[in-house]
Amino acid sequence: MRWTVVVLCVLAARGGGAARGGVRAPSMFDAWTELFRARPRDPREGFVPDHRPHHKEQFDFIVVGAGSAGSVLANRLSEVPDWKVLLLEAGGNENFFSDIPIFAPFLSLTSMNWGYNSDPQEKACKDLRGNVCFMPRGKVLGGSSVLNFLIYQRGHPDDYNDWARMGNDGWNYSEVLPYFKKSENMMIPELRNSSYHGVGGYLEIDYSPYRSPLERLFREAGEELGHAWRDPNGEHVLGFSKPQATMRRGRRCSTSKAFLEPVRFRENLKVSKHSTVLRILIDPTSKAAYGVEFMKDKKRYEVIARREVVLSAGTIGSAQLLLVSGVGPAGELRARGVPPLQDLPVGHNLQDHVTFSGNAFIVNDSSLCVNDATAASPAAAAAYLAGRGPLTLPGGAAGLAFLRTSLAADDPAPGRPDMELVMGAGSLAGDMLGILRSLLGVTDSWFWQVYGSLPPRVRLSTFAMNPVLIRPRSVGRLTLRSARVQDPPHIQPNYFHDPRDLQALREGVRMVQRVIATRGFQRYGARLHATPFPGCERLRFDSDQYWDCAIMQTSITLDHQVGTCKMGPAGDPTAVVSPRLAVHGLRGLRVADASIMPRIPAAHTHAPVVMIAEKAADMIKQDWGR
Ligand SMILES: Cc1cc2nc3c(=O)[nH]c(=O)nc-3n(C[C@H](O)[C@H](O)[C@H](O)COP(=O)(O)OP(=O)(O)OC[C@H]3O[C@@H](n4cnc5c(N)ncnc54)[C@H](O)[C@@H]3O)c2cc1C
Ligand SMILES: *[C@@H]1O[C@H](CO)[C@@H](O)[C@H](O)[C@H]1NC(C)=O
Ligand SMILES: *[C@@H]1O[C@H](CO)[C@@H](O)[C@H](O)[C@H]1NC(C)=O
Ligand SMILES: *[C@@H]1O[C@H](CO)[C@@H](O)[C@H](O)[C@H]1NC(C)=O
Repeated sequence: MRWTVVVLCVLAARGGGAARGGVRAPSMFDAWTELFRARPRDPREGFVPDHRPHHKEQFDFIVVGAGSAGSVLANRLSEVPDWKVLLLEAGGNENFFSDIPIFAPFLSLTSMNWGYNSDPQEKACKDLRGNVCFMPRGKVLGGSSVLNFLIYQRGHPDDYNDWARMGNDGWNYSEVLPYFKKSENMMIPELRNSSYHGVGGYLEIDYSPYRSPLERLFREAGEELGHAWRDPNGEHVLGFSKPQATMRRGRRCSTSKAFLEPVRFRENLKVSKHSTVLRILIDPTSKAAYGVEFMKDKKRYEVIARREVVLSAGTIGSAQLLLVSGVGPAGELRARGVPPLQDLPVGHNLQDHVTFSGNAFIVNDSSLCVNDATAASPAAAAAYLAGRGPLTLPGGAAGLAFLRTSLAADDPAPGRPDMELVMGAGSLAGDMLGILRSLLGVTDSWFWQVYGSLPPRVRLSTFAMNPVLIRPRSVGRLTLRSARVQDPPHIQPNYFHDPRDLQALREGVRMVQRVIATRGFQRYGARLHATPFPGCERLRFDSDQYWDCAIMQTSITLDHQVGTCKMGPAGDPTAVVSPRLAVHGLRGLRVADASIMPRIPAAHTHAPVVMIAEKAADMIKQDWGR
């Protein structure tokens, strides 16, 4: 029963090249996936059939991208029986491996990842390969909801009230809460009757059935420090909690599994996989979008939208598609040889969350932690097949805390966190197989210099507690590299450009130290592994200057990029789409995904994207009188 290790190695080996070259997932996985999903058989699940559109085939709606948002839209729009809907997705099927929650970090090494890199950074990713940050994005049915760490977190009410205050009518918290609830099937017994949660929706929300021993220590630590243990998607966000996850019986519940598979035989919904959209077709005179051009099996197709094209290609994909189709900053488009059709600030307002993930904490009892060796054990595999065990930990996360640093003092919303702590049941130090390293982009020499001194046994007794900057002030920008959609765009996230962001994350490091110092963790002698990071040795270990240096080296993105097609009212020069998500100045074209967020919420972004898609579908139905 070494299958987990074998699969891991196969995927890792396919890794880098596949992620860059965009090779399809091996079809062997489809067979294995059938096998694994077959027990117990769930009638909601099964592969979505592939549709091969004919040239100039007509649809009422064409949705581009089957990610967190696109899968929801395709389902909801095709609820109207006389609307014919086409969903186009560049990737293929999920597989049984991507279902395993703890292996989330490894999926970025497969061909399910577009494999974007940021431009070289001045203040971040400094010891990663070439000062660039890796920016994984899902290229698969389900999109980034297949690569993500499953964490279900909505944010603070004022995140949405702020959107409304920016002129986005219809988006305040009391108006969006019904859409969060609509999609939800809350499985956690004590939350099923909460007025903040929904039951009976498509998206299953559950706790990992695995109760990490660290979870108890985390809870005790929170209580010792005066923080409540609570539902952070309920009335109050601040406090400590066990992560809520998009999970069905211990396995990943992607939006593909939640929203597409149950309706895969709907007559009026067609899904075309391995279909890369090259361009939106827009009539230059009427400025109406009337279809898209895409590539499937090396052949070009045009398909026609009688009503609307809806872009759900994500923060990178949707912005890039608009730009190559002539919608964006006119000067920038001309410089790349794209004739401008509509001058809009596409690609501006890029926001993201970074986390400092280089630290490891050592305890004197390895049974507390889940590292490579535990995860790959036959016992863990057997438990997983029964829907239990450590492999069901969402991305390895066993605890979340939402807190406020001193920099939150200028936030008029009193209960809104600006810092999150994510406790991982394992750490970078326990990364024996080198997969986490590849995900982060940490070099082997860095790894061995920092963690090489630890005997393997000790490396397996380590866990992580990573601070995440959830109210960043730095703003980045996406620009075209070329007029071809196949060339990845320039992504300049500008991490830590605003010095307050670095200060806040350093305070986050101190918050973690206070959690580790509590009685519960000290029962196991918990301590920080204190080998200084290469390049920071000159600074006094544990000084503020040392942590600034360390943070700039190994902070990585939590992959929450948003904002490149910002929503705002007509007349707002920073806006790309209206509060009804229609592209300003054009007809027949909307954007509905993470890119429309005017300001990043203080949360993980998947749940907010699903909410956006639910609301978008309702607005489209209203606008067409349905
Ligand atoms: C590694 C990782 C971990 C994360 N962890 C979490 C987490 O734990 N919790 C959380 O809430 N959020 C997490 N996120 C973020 C969250 O998953 C995303 O914010 C969310 O999935 C974005 O949804 P989207 O619909 O905007 O884009 P996506 O889900 O990325 O969907 C875009 C889809 O469009 C397709 N596409 C793009 N361009 C084209 C084209 N030209 N032609 C055809 N198809 C195209 C893509 O293949 C993709 O399927 C994580 C993300 C990643 C990558
Ligand atoms: C949200 O909008 C609705 C409808 O416009 C309004 O009745 C309500 O008071 C608003 N809530 C807040 C908190 O602004
Ligand atoms: C929900 O159920 C729990 C018991 O499972 C109970 O303690 C709680 O008061 C109930 N809440 C509401 C709002 O009914
Ligand atoms: C772990 O360390 C603590 C504190 O130093 C000590 O009390 C405890 O006995 C140790 N446990 C084991 C299993 O070594």
